[in-house]
Amino acid sequence: MLRKTGRSKPASVLDSGPSWGVHDQQLVGNTRPADEPKSATLPRMGKKSRAPAIPPPSEPNSRLAKVGRSAITTGMATFHHPRRKFHIPCKGRPILPIDDDEVYHWQSHNVKTAGVDDMVLLSRVTEDEIVTNLRKRYLDDQIFTYIGPVLVSVNPFKTMPYFTDKEIELYQGAASYENQPHIFALADNMYRNMLIDAENQCVIISGESGAGKTVAAKYIMNYIARVSGGGDRVRHLKDVILESNPLLEAFGNAKSVRNNNSSRFGKYVEIQFSAGGQPVGGKISNFLLEKSRVVMRSRHERSFHIFYQLCAGADSRMEEQLGLASPENYAYLSQSGTYTVEGTNDVQEFQETMKAMSVVGLSDQEQKNILQIVSAILHLGNISFVEDRSNFASVHDERYLDFPAFLLEIDSVALKAKLTGRVFESHRERVNMTLNVEQACYSRDALAKGLYSRMFDFLVQKVNTAMVTTTPGYSTGILDIYGFEIFEKNGFEQASEIGKII
Ligand SMILES: Nc1ncnc2c1ncn2[C@@H]1O[C@H](COP(=O)(O)OP(=O)(O)OP(=O)(O)O)[C@@H](O)[C@H]1O
Ligand SMILES: [Mg+2]
Repeated sequence: MLRKTGRSKPASVLDSGPSWGVHDQQLVGNTRPADEPKSATLPRMGKKSRAPAIPPPSEPNSRLAKVGRSAITTGMATFHHPRRKFHIPCKGRPILPIDDDEVYHWQSHNVKTAGVDDMVLLSRVTEDEIVTNLRKRYLDDQIFTYIGPVLVSVNPFKTMPYFTDKEIELYQGAASYENQPHIFALADNMYRNMLIDAENQCVIISGESGAGKTVAAKYIMNYIARVSGGGDRVRHLKDVILESNPLLEAFGNAKSVRNNNSSRFGKYVEIQFSAGGQPVGGKISNFLLEKSRVVMRSRHERSFHIFYQLCAGADSRMEEQLGLASPENYAYLSQSGTYTVEGTNDVQEFQETMKAMSVVGLSDQEQKNILQIVSAILHLGNISFVEDRSNFASVHDERYLDFPAFLLEIDSVALKAKLTGRVFESHRERVNMTLNVEQACYSRDALAKGLYSRMFDFLVQKVNTAMVTTTPGYSTGILDIYGFEIFEKNGFEQASEIGKII
């Protein structure tokens, strides 16, 4: 067993698993197989009190229990840890008895395993064998499996019992073979490698939409926040890092057909540490926000959560100031015909988003401005156009210009001019062009998308300002991309995703 660093006292943030909405059984599509036993046995991870009897190595009919390693993948999602160390004992590996299907982890006492916990140990490494092994483990409620330096995680769509304080304690400083495969083992290894080798680390999480990438990224962040100590400043920084999740999810996640909380942007979170291993700063890089979702999406999908949160959670004063009504009243929201998400309370989530805004340091005025822009986008979408006699677009009802112009603090005449006309400028002359209805709709939507994406960048920038540091040190990075999807109608964002996969 290797204990490389002293144990830091666990903080008290992650008591009962993640608080960021792991909704039991809310999956659309990708559910458990029909033949799954209803009350599957939960793995008893880390119970060290009663060890199974260890027979002598020569005992017939015994099988070597598999050695757990490190790094991660998920049934659908995969985690790569680029610098993985292996500490595999070569001699004296205990051999455990098997009673037909009963196999115990070779070192974690009394911990039953299903299949092999590292798939390089499969007799034949084929797709069939891998899927069979993952399925076997999944049916036994074991969602993590190693495959060499990679960890595979299958989305369980229910809260698993092995993400508690006990597991945080168990995986801290432990060598990977000591315990069952786990995302905490990966996070711990990453953190300790950073300290011991004095090198930056990163984990790459990939997989299809709904695979559990974002949940896994949050487990890693929570784990690191728990095991790295610190005073008031560090605690504040941890709060900013953790609260940036609900904030950016409110503005960057949406209900899709596959996932009720689908990330519609990619995110690389770097946590910077002092030489002593305490978080001192952080940086978020965001990319490829699917801004087309603001103006268009498939049926049964929603736009970004914040629109519905604002409509549901605003108090009467806010409703009056921002001209808010229920989502059915806004063309941008009503087109997909889906307004609620099972198991999600938009009112409560709105409160959490507002709290997160305060924690990351947005002033009251900035918060007000953000909500003003969100509401202005909804009102912009209600502006419609008709064709006049000369085939040019004019605003159908000019009263619809007033409120978005008021919220954006611009002149409604100027807004009308920008929506229905375009200026071409060359080095010689300046030409005012009038648009047709199709072009006017396009410029209205472009304005809405542009506003939204700049507002999102502003939020990321504010989070980064709250985490900025000049202290030199090392960092761990977590890359959480957004899962691949093909819609009936695909925009540029989907083309970029295809490019990424190719
Ligand atoms: N470890 C887990 N335990 C319990 N539920 C989980 C777990 N991982 C994922 N889920 C469930 O699956 C849902 C989808 O997971 P998540 O949002 O992480 O997927 P994703 O891979 O990030 O998808 P996308 O690419 O669309 O963002 C979660 O909202 C949660 O309900
Ligand atoms: Mg995600």
